[in-house]
Amino acid sequence: MSSFPPGFLWGAATSSYQIEGSPLADGGGPSNWHVFAHTRGKTTSGQTGDIACDHYRRWRDDIRLMQELGLQAYRFSLAWSRILPAGTGRVNERGLDFYDRLVDALLAADIKPFATLFHWDWPAALDERGGWTNPDSAHWFADYAQTVWRRLGDRVAHWSTLNEPWVVVDAGYLHGVHAPGHASTFEAPQVAHNLLRAHGMAVRAYRALPAVHRSGGTGKIGIVVNLEPKDAASDTEADTAAAQRADAYMNRYYLDALLLGRYPPELPVIFGRDWPGYRSDDPSAEFALIAEPFDFLGVNYYTRSVNRYDASAPPVFASPVRQEGAEYTALDWEVYPEGLQRVLCWLKERYGDRPLYVTENGAAFADPEADASGRIADVQRVAYLRAHLAALRMAMDEGVDVRGYFAWSLLDNYEWACGYAKRFGLISVDLDTQARSVKDSGRFYRDVIARGSALP
Ligand code: FCB
Repeated sequence: MSSFPPGFLWGAATSSYQIEGSPLADGGGPSNWHVFAHTRGKTTSGQTGDIACDHYRRWRDDIRLMQELGLQAYRFSLAWSRILPAGTGRVNERGLDFYDRLVDALLAADIKPFATLFHWDWPAALDERGGWTNPDSAHWFADYAQTVWRRLGDRVAHWSTLNEPWVVVDAGYLHGVHAPGHASTFEAPQVAHNLLRAHGMAVRAYRALPAVHRSGGTGKIGIVVNLEPKDAASDTEADTAAAQRADAYMNRYYLDALLLGRYPPELPVIFGRDWPGYRSDDPSAEFALIAEPFDFLGVNYYTRSVNRYDASAPPVFASPVRQEGAEYTALDWEVYPEGLQRVLCWLKERYGDRPLYVTENGAAFADPEADASGRIADVQRVAYLRAHLAALRMAMDEGVDVRGYFAWSLLDNYEWACGYAKRFGLISVDLDTQARSVKDSGRFYRDVIARGSALP
């Protein structure tokens, strides 16, 4: 029951801006996150990714740590701004060199690279050209992707186009709490559409590459979304409708477009007169491009939300309600393992069978100090992982085709606008010395991998 099928892939995930540091090294250009984090008042205590986990220089040590945990796969992202400092045009080969070496070393360590092309950081110069509101952004992305594939596509067999487009739209363009810090219900739906077009264009570009750049023809391409069950706080019509809108806005927005070639009917209601009026029967809306078939779907799962109608929370008019007696993480996310099983089963039911990976799952907790022997007993994180792996196994028992699991995160890292205080790592990082130590959760995960099973 608790054991996973042979060939099930065990990994851990990170992203470029959150761990690399040295953002401008070797000819890299400033990214949107570099600019945002260096803008007064945007991040907790003004913290930036200037140093982060210094992975740009310590990547060899980090691969050794991955080996210590027994990781079979590693999900990371590429910093577009290292590769094309101005976003388009001139290629900075030294930026590509970094990922080239990383990929070779991962393969030498028998760890499968899962690369994400866009995990929220991109060249700041592109924001000056309208960012994702510019319809050309889809072309910028497809061009960048092809530059990467011509260099790394022979060796990396799993590519994700975008990480969590919902967060880019909601946090970056609608609420302004992430780069580029816009707060506009007018821009948000256009940004979502362009992100989806960018994904579709990249998928088509990948298919058109010679086999040599697609891992000899075996390469797979997909996209990563974050999903949360959206429950209603009561059975009143107002709360039920609020939960439904929240679900349309976060979950179905992207998946209906990608897998059904249309947007959910709640969106025109949510965006009102700012809704651009995309229609699936209008070729200029490019739903055929957006719904270009892809190979796998990545699911990031952390929590659920229980929603009530809230007149003060436009444009969705839904607010989360705290659950009495539930456990919450340091980011105030409810610990709700059942939700992982629910979203995976819902995917199968609504969109049919397709290869899935859990591309992120994990929790931020205020970890205890290391004891005299150096041990970090992060019992809450161990319990979180154990419960979520059990939920994952149950979804698989119900026939959901999950091929692998990636813990978020390999290292304590830069949690975006929250800075370094919110720690998700299986491995702790001392920010002063950069010393790494494997936490109990890392040891637990190592045992899971070695046994292929979550329970002892
Ligand atoms: C996800 C992001 C990831 C990390 C985790 C906690 O939304 O993809 O970069 O911040 O949340």
